[in-house]
Amino acid sequence: MTDTDLDERTIVIHDAAGFEGMRAAGRLAAEVLDMLVAHVKPGVTTLALDRLAYDFVIARGAVSATIFYRGFSHALCTSINHVICHGIPGPKPLQAGDIVNIDVTIVLDGWHGDTSRMYFVGDPPIKARRLVDLTYECLMLGIEAAKPGNTVGHIGEAIQRHAEKNRASVVRDFCGHGLGRRFHMAPNIVHAGRAGEGPELRPGMFFTIEPMVNLGRPDAKILDDGWTAVTRDRSLSAQFEHSIGITESGCEIFTGSPLGLDRPPYPA
Ligand code: MF3
Ligand code: CO
Ligand code: CO
Repeated sequence: MTDTDLDERTIVIHDAAGFEGMRAAGRLAAEVLDMLVAHVKPGVTTLALDRLAYDFVIARGAVSATIFYRGFSHALCTSINHVICHGIPGPKPLQAGDIVNIDVTIVLDGWHGDTSRMYFVGDPPIKARRLVDLTYECLMLGIEAAKPGNTVGHIGEAIQRHAEKNRASVVRDFCGHGLGRRFHMAPNIVHAGRAGEGPELRPGMFFTIEPMVNLGRPDAKILDDGWTAVTRDRSLSAQFEHSIGITESGCEIFTGSPLGLDRPPYPA
């Protein structure tokens, strides 16, 4: 039996070979986001970015996990301004002042690398830049809480506390997720919660942390395309995502930027 045969509620504990596989897959996913830094600017379409990402992934001997995933047909999700997540690449040019999340998931040698970052298009207003900073801090606080003996709830509590202390809100409708040989599997990683709730974290667990933080209310709605999730109050939303593995002493981030471009502003 391989872990792809297990049902979706089983939390798989991976071995050293799994860490090796995820290190390579995570690195390639991060390299896609690094490559896109030079291309995100006013006038560029998200469809053009999607094409660049697709070609990059294929040239590296990997495949996109999102093309053909439940009817999705792009290599990227591109979520602009009040779009929370799952924005579909399209022909509309990016505009100066936009903030955009780009989320990529690839499969390399059977292992999934899933990561997203925010990008600034031109010079976004200060409130947008602050939201992006806050959301990155939330991700990293969640990662600090990801260690053996803690529970999934410790991660959610760390994220929620920091977001709400800064008068922002955490989206509840979408969660982080286990991943490995599958794209989405147990455990569910909630980004709001209480220490002690949910499964206990153990070495060998692989999952994403991917908080979505809104300037306004946490409520989401899905547009008629069936994918695009937006804030109901049209407030700005930001997200960052890393794929991680729990180790004996804490966790390993599989999707750190090889070029140090983990958060904006990126050098010109
Ligand atoms: N990469 C997203 C995640 O973090 C999932 C995208 S599914 C898609 O889980 F179909 F919208 F691409
Ligand atoms: Co994910
Ligand atoms: Co993702």
